[in-house]
Amino acid sequence: MKEAVQNLLDTASSEVSGLGDDPKALDQARVKFLGRKGELAQLFKELGRVPEQERREAGRILNEAKAKLEAIFSDALEDSRKLAAGKREPIDVTVPGRVPRRGRLHPITQVALEITRIFNWLGFETVEGPEIELDYYNFEALNIPKDHPAREMQDTFYISEDVVLRTHTSPIQIRTMEKRRPPIRVIAPGRTYRCDSDVTHTPMFHQVEGLMVGKGVSFGDLKGVLTTFVHQMFGPDVGLRFRPSFFPFTEPSAEVDIQCVMCRGQGCRVCSQTGWLEILGSGMVDPEVYKYVGYDPEEVTGFAFGMGIERIAMLKFGIDDLRLFFENDLRFLNHF
Ligand code: FA5
Ligand code: MG
Repeated sequence: MKEAVQNLLDTASSEVSGLGDDPKALDQARVKFLGRKGELAQLFKELGRVPEQERREAGRILNEAKAKLEAIFSDALEDSRKLAAGKREPIDVTVPGRVPRRGRLHPITQVALEITRIFNWLGFETVEGPEIELDYYNFEALNIPKDHPAREMQDTFYISEDVVLRTHTSPIQIRTMEKRRPPIRVIAPGRTYRCDSDVTHTPMFHQVEGLMVGKGVSFGDLKGVLTTFVHQMFGPDVGLRFRPSFFPFTEPSAEVDIQCVMCRGQGCRVCSQTGWLEILGSGMVDPEVYKYVGYDPEEVTGFAFGMGIERIAMLKFGIDDLRLFFENDLRFLNHF
């Protein structure tokens, strides 16, 4: 009996797998094996002829076989349904696809990448720092003690007495010098925040900081690097000038103006008729600053600079209102 049952199960599975996904054939096979006059029923009929003492066991085997057969057929039916569902909605590979709308980099990002590319090419490595910054790094270690009037130059967002949203990328100078020994040649792009808003100022804007420290680094190096940068960014014909200025963390300090790219120095609305536009602050790192990071000012010298990325982008693209960059108007952004 056992053997007969096993044979039946084997034949049933191999027949079913040969049927593919034809539900009609599947149903016929089910009747053939499980129907009232089917093969399993034949075996049940023989149960009567099995000797009394083996009958119980034989009955159990037959019932088990019935359950297995039912499972074989219900599984096969399920599979054929799934296949049929798949066939009902065939994929037409010739239908033209939906073209995804192509995004692009924000103009500020494009300009930041361009600035970074130029300085990387000049041998400056890119580093970063936190946007939420300690007062110590944003002011103190940059030679701007508490109640120093220079704090008034930057309208600071305070988070607590000792924590601010960084007002410039200069704190990264300190963080870098704390971690490394000279020679150092880095740039640090990032977001900065000031409580400020008009045509040339937004509360959030971007700066790129630069720092080069080593033996014998001079103001000549500062001029050479920044002149090369301006010529790479705006072309070799654009004039530039270094104008004396003041920052607590550089001495001497200079701001760099470039010839107005809108009017080529003739004087217009954008440059307030002066023919020049300020793009960055810079200077030789003040020896006071080295004291905070444990460098010996007798040993090393260096220069630093910080530029507003929006300012550069306005000049590069000829935009006269900085706030346009942050209104997320696609008609504006699609120009770039
Ligand atoms: C500084 O922030 C100095 N940390 C720069 C510096 C670095 C000097 C290293 C020396 C050595 P200043 O406050 O001038 O300097 O800002 C630099 C540039 O940031 C400005 O020229 C301007 O382009 C940009 N900027 C400042 N405030 C805003 C603002 N609210 N919106 C957009 N751009 C701004
Ligand atoms: Mg300035």
